Amino acid sequence: MKGIVLAGGKGTRLYPITSAVSKQLLPVYDKPLVYYPITTLMLASIREILIISTPEALPAFRALLGDGGQWGVKFDYAEQAKPNGLAEGFIIGADFIDGKPCALALGDNIFHGAGLTGQLQDAGNLQSGAAVFAYRVADPHRFGIVELDAKGKPVSIEEKPASPKSNLAVTGLYFYDKDIVDIARKTERSERGELEITSVNAEYLKRGELRVIQLARGTAWLDAGTFDSLLQASVYVQTLEQRQRFRIACPEEVAWRRGFINDAQLKKLAAAIPNDYGAYLTSLLEEAR
Ligand code: G1P
Repeated sequence: MKGIVLAGGKGTRLYPITSAVSKQLLPVYDKPLVYYPITTLMLASIREILIISTPEALPAFRALLGDGGQWGVKFDYAEQAKPNGLAEGFIIGADFIDGKPCALALGDNIFHGAGLTGQLQDAGNLQSGAAVFAYRVADPHRFGIVELDAKGKPVSIEEKPASPKSNLAVTGLYFYDKDIVDIARKTERSERGELEITSVNAEYLKRGELRVIQLARGTAWLDAGTFDSLLQASVYVQTLEQRQRFRIACPEEVAWRRGFINDAQLKKLAAAIPNDYGAYLTSLLEEAR
């Protein structure tokens, strides 16, 4: 399974903060926002990741993330010049995907909670059809909304419906089989002129191949796209990290726990971060002894 992190867009809802800096590079407490979706993919055992962003912002992503070798993964980069929709990511990434199954994580979506890693592992093993993650929300008209039957099978999916058929939002984390590029290419533009990910999901639903994985009550699904949600995400991460002294979505830790990198590599990463973040990485090695 390959993975794409879509980190494009102008971030106009966060102007002036994002006039010169990409939204996905803004801090969520102690790390850049893009670390969260990257770590989500790593937890699904995805190690080949394509970062898609605007031509203006890509150099900064490269400077931050490099080739991925430091975390035992491989990053590639591609441009999305215009906001033509989320599904365009698969057309841009067609060569990278190379006929394999592929996941998509939106660059501003944060997932956290007990039990999530198992669900991600499961989704990362997907070979046929599609799997999306759904989350109960209070404001369903803002999202892609999926309706389930009594057995939990999806019966409808709609993008930002005026009269939502359920409270279940489709989150920004999607897993698809090898048909994804074909399906994305055949998708028609929506009224707002975009290649909607919801149209892709609707096609899998039509084929009877859409699986909906529900995030449990108590899990956090946050996006950091507005002033308030950006601050709330930071406070959420700060609260849990200070209480437990576990870092959330720490790619260095995940890489090490997953065996993508060894002790010596983690030690080197720790030494390059001369603050409490680095000390945390060192403490992982000490605790393991
Ligand atoms: C996009 C998708 C929507 C999904 C949401 C999750 O919306 O179109 O289906 O629920 O991401 O963050 P956007 O953020 O582009 O409005």
